[in-house]
Amino acid sequence: MTTVAFSPGRVNLIGDHTDYNGGLVCPMAIDLGTTVEVERGGDTVHLVSPTEPLPAVVPIAITDPGSSEPAWSRYVAGVVAELRPTIGASGTVTTTLPVGAGLSSSAALELAVALALGGDATDLVGLAELCQRAEQLASGVPCGIMDQLVCATGVAGHALMIDCTTLQRTPVPLPPDLDVVVIHSGESRTLAGSEYGARRAEVEAAGEMLGRPLRDSPDLAGLRDPLLRRRARHVITENQRVIEFAAALRAGELARAGALMLSSHASLRDNFEVSTPVVDALVARLAATDGVWGARMTGAGFGGCIVALTAPGALAGVPATTVTASAGARIMSP
Ligand code: GLA
Repeated sequence: MTTVAFSPGRVNLIGDHTDYNGGLVCPMAIDLGTTVEVERGGDTVHLVSPTEPLPAVVPIAITDPGSSEPAWSRYVAGVVAELRPTIGASGTVTTTLPVGAGLSSSAALELAVALALGGDATDLVGLAELCQRAEQLASGVPCGIMDQLVCATGVAGHALMIDCTTLQRTPVPLPPDLDVVVIHSGESRTLAGSEYGARRAEVEAAGEMLGRPLRDSPDLAGLRDPLLRRRARHVITENQRVIEFAAALRAGELARAGALMLSSHASLRDNFEVSTPVVDALVARLAATDGVWGARMTGAGFGGCIVALTAPGALAGVPATTVTASAGARIMSP
């Protein structure tokens, strides 16, 4: 019997580097994603992909997913190590997502593999948490829950405002006269070996010095270290921007929503220092383009894609992809 599982990727509209602080994010699942088609049997998970020269071959008893080869098989291995299926599988992975672009190709792969291997489709939050642990095992990066949770539970036509402390999700309808556009900066990146872990450690240190979660610490006077104060200032102001952005979208105030995206980008660039000069230049160029409401880096940063909100068709002449807010991960058959 063939099982076909699909997971979308995601683009984050606003709220970056807030999820692992129990903060607020506002991403959406997109109409690009990853499909895994398998037959169950045996005691390995064997997957081939037309875009990868070598297959992923993972024993169901895997113990060290982080050292699996080739590198893409680590995400499969992470899921196997967390899900512990008792039967293997053999099949194919296909994707319409660009890899290493900041659109969560790894979260989409993890969720599609987890569903194809019998993960519980009735508990998508639990499945997202399992895939977050798989990602951490696979990459060694202490990522938050945003990517896996929005890929698992996306709602068509809506962004999702997620409270990363309670995991409560509030769908925010996207106005019809709006394009969400993704543009690749040309700088591919991997988070393994990036400063992601260092940033997380910095904001955790800031929280410890303040004696409270950053989310509940609007007053940063107790933080003497100027670097930690900037990092904390980003997190606190970004949480507030997520709330205002969701309200602006609901009210159809697109100029306001766009301005918040630009402030978010400036804070990620100056306070959190996770942007790059190429990404900054692209955001500035878009911000000055007719019909563009706002633009910013999206996801972890360090290169990859930027996201823009525009009037319909405003970037028609630019090499860009207009994405649609889509439903979350699912079994396609039987
Ligand atoms: C990556 C991580 C997420 C989140 C973003 C930044 O995508 O996987 O958990 O921290 O970076 O917002």
